Amino acid sequence: MIGSTTTRALQDEFGISGTLAFRDHAFGGPVAELTSVHGTVMVAVQGAQVLSYVPSDNGEVLWVSPVARLGTGKALRGGIPVCWPWFGPHPGDTSQPAHGLVRASPWRVVETAAHEDLVRVRFAWALQEPVAGCPAGLSAQLDVTLGADLQLDLMTVNASSEAVELTQALHTYLRVGDVGGISVNGFEGQSYLDQLAPPTGTHPALEPQAGPTVFDREVDRIYATRIDAAGRSVATLIDPALARRIAVSGEGSGSTVVWNPWIAKAARLGDLGPDGYRQFVCIETANAAFDARTLPAGGSHRLTAIIHAVNG
Ligand code: BG6
Repeated sequence: MIGSTTTRALQDEFGISGTLAFRDHAFGGPVAELTSVHGTVMVAVQGAQVLSYVPSDNGEVLWVSPVARLGTGKALRGGIPVCWPWFGPHPGDTSQPAHGLVRASPWRVVETAAHEDLVRVRFAWALQEPVAGCPAGLSAQLDVTLGADLQLDLMTVNASSEAVELTQALHTYLRVGDVGGISVNGFEGQSYLDQLAPPTGTHPALEPQAGPTVFDREVDRIYATRIDAAGRSVATLIDPALARRIAVSGEGSGSTVVWNPWIAKAARLGDLGPDGYRQFVCIETANAAFDARTLPAGGSHRLTAIIHAVNG
């Protein structure tokens, strides 16, 4: 159903018959729905936030809080929020929102396309004036592509005349059967920054990761990811309860954030729903902390996350 004027205008300009439609969602805003032989994807225009990914041979891959609502001025809890142009707290100004400027803000839909078995929607967001130390002319473009897997490409262009220090993440909430029974492979032998370690005043030490990452307490780590010859990193979620594996691959990324709030932090956050923390793990394809990127004037950077679910 097409409701609000915005949604109708989006549908008129960017809808693709049988493949891509805009509609008003119960979450409270316009969403793009992508459909192909490979499955369905739903993306909210607010935050350019992917809210659902259902591959044709699998169940829902993403987790969204049952009490989540759009348009509250806060990012909706779940899906794939875009953290940009900083990850975590602002580096110098505590009055700025965590995880950047764009995750609770409307993006512009600029293009949709369907070619063979790929369907794509492209969003854009640009700083018109300096904000929080970020210059006018800094812009982001997010492509969400449904093919045999779900691919997000976040392109940053620095069209200003000054260098910009960029941190960011595609903050993927993956649905799990029970977080206590899952493990994440891909970080064995790598080191991580433990965001829960008490501040030391100096550069915090990196911890070594021995086996797979498991969850029996709050986990909030920035892993230095292993990158293969093709420039790609892979973390694999093993979920025995849902009898599936989900591979999260990154490009343009040297860091992956792994997060679950566990009981006390979930209670503090207050927007996860009953026992919500048991239903997801975040594997966030990032440029965070030690992996910050400096974009010179005129420079650009592409961060890609590819999500692929396999039964068994
Ligand atoms: C993760 C951070 O990326 O996001 C955590 O590593 C943080 O420290 C979490 O708690 C959620 O952040 P927010 O702002 O969405 O509550």
